[in-house]
Amino acid sequence: MVKGYVPDGVLILAKLEKFNPGGSSKDRAATLMLLEAVRRGYVDGKTVIEASSGNTAVSLAMVGASLGLRVLLFVPEGPSGRKVELAKEFGAEVVLTPYDEGTDGALMRVRSVVEEHPDRYYHPDQYNNPLNPLAHYLSTGPEIWRQTSGSITHFVAGVGTGGTVVGTGRYLKEVKPSVRVIGVQPESPEDRIPGLKHLPTSVRPGIYDDSVIDLTVNTSSDEGKEWRERLLRHGLSVGPSSGAALSAAVKVANSDPEARVVVVLFPDGGERY
Ligand SMILES: Cc1ncc(COP(=O)(O)O)c(C=O)c1O
Repeated sequence: MVKGYVPDGVLILAKLEKFNPGGSSKDRAATLMLLEAVRRGYVDGKTVIEASSGNTAVSLAMVGASLGLRVLLFVPEGPSGRKVELAKEFGAEVVLTPYDEGTDGALMRVRSVVEEHPDRYYHPDQYNNPLNPLAHYLSTGPEIWRQTSGSITHFVAGVGTGGTVVGTGRYLKEVKPSVRVIGVQPESPEDRIPGLKHLPTSVRPGIYDDSVIDLTVNTSSDEGKEWRERLLRHGLSVGPSSGAALSAAVKVANSDPEARVVVVLFPDGGERY
């Protein structure tokens, strides 16, 4: 479907994270963070509390349910409606926060609740928890390496917490140092793309590691929308951040003469928007 949009000889491959049991890439970090929290006894008698643009909420609710944990989620109002419903179906409690405050606002609220009642809540803190990138280092990276038989030259992923791009990129660079790792962000703070952060104007995630990222590509929600619609017309339904990531992958394919096999990560499906 990118034929005609990228130079001959350049392949763009998409990793479809919507096939995870909770429907997004966030299953990976949520699973590792909660399993480790249980193993280390961090959640004994406590409620898991987290801020999320939606996908982490669903994944924590699902994994939490399977582990018998109570889960409380702070999610910005707006495009996350279906995700909020799903999280509730898994038995989680969801508090909606003002859309204008974004995920940073939801995070501030979580922090103040935890500060007030540290004995009642366990906050995995996906923005600062090294287990978030580690989950991708241990799973997404090796999967892409195997699935491309080592032919990958570029890895492209949107940046929310940075867990995906940092963890996957770290693994790929270890096994093949020439792999270029590209982070994708909206071109302005006003141009919202669900799941993605405009880094210069956001609270910087503690897990974000510049040394793994070779290039940051800015994209607009309109460009993302065009690519998302093109994918739909080819029978593939993905979320808005996947369209944005693909628009960046196409830019990379056209601007880097070293690009041969560009792997782009699609975090979720279009069904939940
Ligand atoms: C739809 C979507 N795309 C992209 C991302 C970014 O992933 P990460 O947090 O691993 O950077 C997220 C994270 O919330 C997301 O929900």
